[in-house]
Amino acid sequence: MNTLLARKWIKLPVFLACLAPLAMLGWRWRQDDLTANPIEFITHATGDWTLRFLLITLAVTPLRQTLALPNLIRYRRMLGLFAFFYVILHFITYIWLDKFFDLEEMWKDIAIRRFITVGFLAFVLLIPLAITSTRGWIRRLGGKRWQWLHRLIYVSAACGVIHYYWLVKSDVRAPLTYGAILAVLLLWRLILRFTGRGSRASAAATTGQPITAETA
Ligand code: HEM
Repeated sequence: MNTLLARKWIKLPVFLACLAPLAMLGWRWRQDDLTANPIEFITHATGDWTLRFLLITLAVTPLRQTLALPNLIRYRRMLGLFAFFYVILHFITYIWLDKFFDLEEMWKDIAIRRFITVGFLAFVLLIPLAITSTRGWIRRLGGKRWQWLHRLIYVSAACGVIHYYWLVKSDVRAPLTYGAILAVLLLWRLILRFTGRGSRASAAATTGQPITAETA
């Protein structure tokens, strides 16, 4: 399985699978099946998938270690960029279909509604991560600094969970579930850090190069 993950062509089906939520929305739109409130439906679907992709991205490291699949790391950048892709769709739905590009209204919303404030913060934090996700930026920043910067993904995911928690009116089970998953992922990371087991693979993990026996 680990060897299979190192094959270049495998990235294509993974890429297509990541597009499935968008394809589902397109299909439902074609079928005129976006419920009685299409804007709300699209906002919720894109918000859900942003959060899911953030958590999937954060799960790559624990999974590669527990499942002994070090080459999973080769997919982390793609998964993180898909989180960014879905938050852009989420934001566009909000600014276009909800606010009709009324920037004044948008800023008012960001200032007044706390769930929008924290959602916007989660979005803004992802921008430098998406920009610096290339190998060129890893080289420019240096591995250590790049890794520090990219820890912001935890902050962004936490803001995403709070955003969700604050916007639901009564049933908080879904945001709490996402929050619990995030807490486990963060705890895993902290345990690795304090036991010193995270550092050996980090150089190879940063670049997303195929992992060899020495770096795994
Ligand atoms: C990383 C950033 C973000 C994440 C992870 C995220 C996630 C979510 C989630 C999970 C939902 C609820 C989905 C559901 O109910 O099934 C949601 C709803 C929503 N989000 Fe976000 N979001 C983010 C950024 C933003 C931004 C930047 C805005 C606008 C400035 C925004 C505006 C909204 C709105 C208006 C709703 C619907 C609220 C309602 O139904 O009352 N979100 N978001």
